[in-house]
Amino acid sequence: MKFVTNSPRDTRNLAKKISKILDEGDVVILEGPLGVGKTTFIKGVVAALGVNEKKVRSPSFTIIKEYSAKKKRVFHIDLYRINRVEELFNVGYEDYLYEPEGITFIEWGERIEGMLSKHIKVEMQFEGENRRSIVFAARGYCKAKLRRIKEIFNNKI
Ligand SMILES: Nc1ncnc2c1ncn2[C@@H]1O[C@H](COP(=O)(O)OP(=O)(O)OP(=O)(O)O)[C@@H](O)[C@H]1O
Ligand SMILES: [Mg+2]
Repeated sequence: MKFVTNSPRDTRNLAKKISKILDEGDVVILEGPLGVGKTTFIKGVVAALGVNEKKVRSPSFTIIKEYSAKKKRVFHIDLYRINRVEELFNVGYEDYLYEPEGITFIEWGERIEGMLSKHIKVEMQFEGENRRSIVFAARGYCKAKLRRIKEIFNNKI
């Protein structure tokens, strides 16, 4: 399932639509080169969930940040500075992945994709100065969830 956006606002609007199919316990991993728009996408989702998006910045030093939205808790993890997956054990990441009470977003999530059994994957690529392709995939979800995701792509949401 592939989208193309032509501006940061486009990407945020797409993220807003995606937010409608996210439930507590979902893990969303974001992949793509530096500066492609991973944080921009997360800002869109978080704003749609009722958090001031100005609070959303890559959690470079803390690795994990939490935003409490009106209805849901949102965790934002950035693995860019992680050298070895083992470092994650020191920050208690398993609380966010295995006992999730909120929605978890992981930038550079491909680094731990092998440890996940159920997740939504967002792959972003540069197509031009302000143009990005965004490909979605969902792994390990029930059919009902996949159907909801597909509805977005058929413009039903
Ligand atoms: N279509 C688009 N979608 C998203 N961002 C865009 C788009 N066009 C231009 N941009 C710009 O690209 C930049 C994306 O930055 P952002 O911090 O979201 O990227 P990132 O993938 O999180 O980077 P990093 O790997 O450093 O964490 C922003 O400056 C944004 O304004
Ligand atoms: Mg980022």
